[in-house]
Amino acid sequence: MKYDVENRRVWYKGEIVEVKEAKVNILAPTAQFGLNVFEGIPCYWEENEKQMYAFRLEDHYGRLLRSAKLMQMDCRYTKDNFKEALIAAIRANEYCENLSVRQTLFVDGSGSWGSEGPVEMIVAPIPRKKTSAEYNKSGLHCCFTSWRRISDDTFSPRIKCGANYINSRMGQREALRNGYDTCIFLNKDGKVAEGPGSCFFMVRNGMVHTPQLTESVLESITRDTVIKIAEDLGIPVIERAIDRTEVYTCDEAFLCGSAMEITPILSIDKYIIGGKGTNSITEKLHTAYLAMAYGKVSKYRHWVTPIYE
Ligand SMILES: Cc1ncc(COP(=O)(O)O)c(C=O)c1O
Repeated sequence: MKYDVENRRVWYKGEIVEVKEAKVNILAPTAQFGLNVFEGIPCYWEENEKQMYAFRLEDHYGRLLRSAKLMQMDCRYTKDNFKEALIAAIRANEYCENLSVRQTLFVDGSGSWGSEGPVEMIVAPIPRKKTSAEYNKSGLHCCFTSWRRISDDTFSPRIKCGANYINSRMGQREALRNGYDTCIFLNKDGKVAEGPGSCFFMVRNGMVHTPQLTESVLESITRDTVIKIAEDLGIPVIERAIDRTEVYTCDEAFLCGSAMEITPILSIDKYIIGGKGTNSITEKLHTAYLAMAYGKVSKYRHWVTPIYE
């Protein structure tokens, strides 16, 4: 790494600049109303190859464009533009450690909450150790938050926009206040939805269960990866509505996401869950996930993009 985080380089409006120089008008709709959509893209440093691999770029950019469309943001960038900017931002910092790259489209200018543009982009690589604490734990003590997850008929969790994270924040702050690492949301029907920045899975009788994509969850890329890994390992996956009390008595549970990877849940509302152990399904899924993300699995090699020449 060439620069510390305060002095790192970011891609901003078509140029590589020092993060301190990347300024946004205080009255821009992104600053006033949270009018932005973004991705957190995991990138893995492979020390032996001296190479950085971005994981599932194509899928992250597909979701970014869907989020922009749903927010009716006037985005002029293509997937190729997104990729070029990400590569330039990482190379500019000469990073050689695991990263989460924040790639954000935002409404700039002097409009209001109904404005479609002008849409600008920022790409900011964040060393993994500098992301939120709950993303860097080896096991999690969770609670069910008293706040319900937003839903498609009010404000869709399918859109990965900054404003959605106010709902995440309410749950996360409640969890931290009460001494937990993070929380799990129920949806408006009282069924299990997801974490504030991750998706939920549980294991019962050797089968993996997760809520459906229509039950107030983000269309998570890690969730999709986990399902594919489980299927490859011959572990049945069931996407269905999950009750709160099922979680208290499950065999294993974990949260997953680009920042969190696959992190076992140790307890929920103080009910102990047996997820952490070398023979657990959670551990097997995590090991397989890392192999893919580091470009070691030929079947999924197309999912990784090398950053350095
Ligand atoms: C609310 C929410 N759910 C799930 C996820 C996991 O999504 P992904 O696996 O695409 O990172 C995230 C992370 O971005 C999130 O913020």
